[in-house]
Amino acid sequence: MYYGVAYYPEHWPEERWAVDAKLMQEAGVNGVRMGEFAWSALEPREGEYRFDWLDRAVELLADHGIKTIMCTCSRTPPPWVFAKYPEIRNTAADRLTSNYGHRYTVCHSSPVFRELSQRIDRAVVEHYADNENVIAWHTDNEIGAGNTCYCDVCRGEFHKYLREKYGSVENLNERWGAHFWSFALSDFAEAPLPVGVATANPSLALEYSRFVSKCNAEFARWPYELMKKLSPDKWVTTNFQTERTDHTDIFEMGEWTDVYGTNFYPPMGTELALDYCRGSRGKLLILEQRSGQPHWSEATKPGWMRLWAWRSVAHGACGLNFFRWRPCLWGQEEYWHAVLPHSGRPGRRYEELKRMGEELKQIGEAIEATRPPARVAMVMSYESRWALKAVLTEPRMDVLSEARRCHDALMQQNVCLDAMDPREDLSRYALVIAPRLYCVDDRVSDNLQRFVEGGGVLCLTARSGAVDEYNKIFSQPSPGPLRDMAGIEIDEYGALPEPLLLCNEGGEFEGNLKQAELWADEIIVTGARPVATYAEGWLAGTPAVTVNEFGRGKVVYVGTVLTGETLEAFLEWLCRLADVASVLDVPPGVRAFERRGDRQRFLFLLNFSEASQSVALDENWRDAFTREPATPIEISPLDVRVLAREE
Ligand code: GAL
Repeated sequence: MYYGVAYYPEHWPEERWAVDAKLMQEAGVNGVRMGEFAWSALEPREGEYRFDWLDRAVELLADHGIKTIMCTCSRTPPPWVFAKYPEIRNTAADRLTSNYGHRYTVCHSSPVFRELSQRIDRAVVEHYADNENVIAWHTDNEIGAGNTCYCDVCRGEFHKYLREKYGSVENLNERWGAHFWSFALSDFAEAPLPVGVATANPSLALEYSRFVSKCNAEFARWPYELMKKLSPDKWVTTNFQTERTDHTDIFEMGEWTDVYGTNFYPPMGTELALDYCRGSRGKLLILEQRSGQPHWSEATKPGWMRLWAWRSVAHGACGLNFFRWRPCLWGQEEYWHAVLPHSGRPGRRYEELKRMGEELKQIGEAIEATRPPARVAMVMSYESRWALKAVLTEPRMDVLSEARRCHDALMQQNVCLDAMDPREDLSRYALVIAPRLYCVDDRVSDNLQRFVEGGGVLCLTARSGAVDEYNKIFSQPSPGPLRDMAGIEIDEYGALPEPLLLCNEGGEFEGNLKQAELWADEIIVTGARPVATYAEGWLAGTPAVTVNEFGRGKVVYVGTVLTGETLEAFLEWLCRLADVASVLDVPPGVRAFERRGDRQRFLFLLNFSEASQSVALDENWRDAFTREPATPIEISPLDVRVLAREE
């Protein structure tokens, strides 16, 4: 299994490199990621390339058994680029243009920037294509972050995009709904950018998000094609920002990578990021796994770094790269802590790196041949996020908050799930949860319908199926094209200023559904049966949660927001309805994950509590390292036990 660190030899005197390489080797590190911000060191003046230092670093590390993931460095053009080609600057919403000495400073539509970035990318790729110590490529860094641009070039490109998509302005006006506040275009060139006004037209805002995402994905395409052409044996990855940011549809950009990679900085980074990045593909690469604490935040306590890293493995990681080897002594990230402290002396995090390195040497390869066996899919679309963001005034109702609430609760119940785009093949899942699937096109509704007809259980939440792909509200009652499947119709809805008590219809829930929050759809059942109704207020007796039989499957609709123990009780019921079991019953503070392969299964028991814990298991599980039968399992505080069994 790939086990590495982000390394920046350009930040340290060359005499130190050998010390670093030796320490890394002793810790079991077999890879480094290098070069992603090194443009000024690789091309200090236009056309003057200096690879000698990086060549020496690659070689020295290889002498210590450490291979390189080489990054392209287009993320940070040096000052000479800005001085000579100022037109590459990113223009923010407030029309301020960016400068060098930072990152996220360029415009991806700028033909000049594209040419410059392709030139430096080509230099890097050509230089290392045949180097056997470079095993993979990493395109740029967090592609799309901070790149949303509002310059005139982007506007021109946006007009081209609209023309290609809509064909005629009449068609666009029809799709977007013309004449509200006199917004009817007579030419594509009149389309404004969604900026400089209190609220932009929702259709325009959605389309601009799609356009920006497309530009970012397109930006990843050129280097990918070059890398594949010049070095077909090396795989390509990049560090997506996943669920936290929504500038780029990662599934669109994923086409230009071989392995989906992500950054992961718990507790800031949520586990949803891992399941989203792994998705239905079964594997992911953590390109930046947290080591030291970010800036002035809480220290990484002893045990956390290794425990969090094992949790990433349990979620399906096929490789880990800690960020970073040693913190810089200068620059904007001088307080972003690392495996080593500023002094470079190996300390407690180095010991954790080493311990895990030894563990992965023993069982990493076998783990790599397995994947989390999810029977639950969470579908979350970028289009829904963009469409809703354009109109939302209640942040807690956004797509991501709803997804995180459900995901967190399922994680606490040790339910394994894959998160993905709603157009993906769902046939292998028993349960699909679609948090706030606001924007629904034919492909999405057909896909969900196929899934339910085939016997699956689908869970929709409030304001699902509200708008079409142009962000225009459906003229049919909600949930628009999903209403027949759901067996309900909704015309009226609104925010709940105070939580309302619920009562369970038919006593299906073992734990009670207690209260509804934030929102209430006034559900009219047209075929569904209520499973919970409001118990008080003017909504008393109105269904809050329903279930409908459709085809061979069922659709559950939640017309409100459930949180805390109400949500937990609901999700337990939902999993029972879909016949989905959790990995294992474990004491509070312990988490259980499973990975399965053709020959072997692994069970990961992670103790996040500060007390020792004990878990009873059947005798087929053996300690993955010693192969001794192990039941009950004792887990020390902040420790992990890995068990294995033959399939
Ligand atoms: C990541 C980024 C890294 C580094 C890190 C810590 O998002 O990819 O380059 O900046 O955050 O800030």
